[in-house]
Amino acid sequence: MSTREVILTGDTPTGQLHLGHYVGSVRRRVELQDTHDCYFLLANMHAYTTRSHQPNEIHSDTLEIVRDYLAMGINPEKSAIFLQSETPAIAELTFLFAMLLPFNRVMRNPTLKEEIKVKGLGDNYSFGFPLYAVGQTADILAFRAHAVPVGEDQIPHIELTREVARRFNKLYCGIDENVEDDAPEMKNGVFPIPRADVGKVGRLIGTDGVNKMSKSLNNAILITDTPKKVKKKLGQLYTGRQSMTDPGDANSSLMQYVDTFITDETRAAEIKDKYVRGDNIGDGHVKVEVAAAISELLEPMQERRAQYEGDDETIVDIIRGGTARANARTEETLSMAKEACGLDFFSRSITF
Ligand code: TRP
Repeated sequence: MSTREVILTGDTPTGQLHLGHYVGSVRRRVELQDTHDCYFLLANMHAYTTRSHQPNEIHSDTLEIVRDYLAMGINPEKSAIFLQSETPAIAELTFLFAMLLPFNRVMRNPTLKEEIKVKGLGDNYSFGFPLYAVGQTADILAFRAHAVPVGEDQIPHIELTREVARRFNKLYCGIDENVEDDAPEMKNGVFPIPRADVGKVGRLIGTDGVNKMSKSLNNAILITDTPKKVKKKLGQLYTGRQSMTDPGDANSSLMQYVDTFITDETRAAEIKDKYVRGDNIGDGHVKVEVAAAISELLEPMQERRAQYEGDDETIVDIIRGGTARANARTEETLSMAKEACGLDFFSRSITF
């Protein structure tokens, strides 16, 4: 058996992935797949919590995410890319964990509240919508994951997951809730307490210069965007700066792009220095340079992505293989959990 740490993270299929996904999480996953046991979740059930009327779109969005993963460098030989809807232990643990969380605790989750606001759900959301937060704790704990690479907005979900793990371990394994994550007695519990692994760029601003990059806000640079498109989108980035001699803000969204995408550090520092001093450097010039750097990053991704265009069968084969590995791991967890909480009447096996 592998002694490597387990990584679990994933994405809700909402369309193609964008640069925010890459710098916030996927780039980190590409590094981790060489040193950790990595599982990457296609959270297609979660997509139904707000889009149950769009099954065909969710189906194709799910396949598109896999194309983007492969384009960004995730290697299916190393990492398991798997389908939430075909990993039944997750659904079973969701039901069980829903009993360990006070209803009001779930509803206090700031990410849920924010989504209700941003998506304009009012009080018309489905019962399943808040349940997805409980489901996300099961996504993670079903793998007995040690770390979860995510963007900043997901931290409340990881907090909730840590609470569930502690409560389960206390109720059914007798472990004090307050011991440290790495205390020796933790090994008597079913679940390690997972930590959020937030990348250097926890929140990439979109090309509107204001909000987090998000496809639904129309401020995203997609992996498939041509150099011309990238240039155009960056051109729209609002900075509020008036002229080339206006001292710029080091923390502006444009400077975040410089920090994130200009890989030559000396050059990045030079741009920033001039920008902050208002030393004859125009926003337009900086944008062109950033756009070029982004397109250079995207070019090899687009080449890799092109190999899978129109070939759903290969993509489905990749997911099938990953899902088999996911079920091996999560069925093991489920039987450990059932044994701990008195649901171990007999063993079962799922073959794939
Ligand atoms: N909620 C995440 C998003 O919308 C997707 C997700 C579902 C996830 N389950 C997860 C992320 C488990 C990390 C771990 O992006």
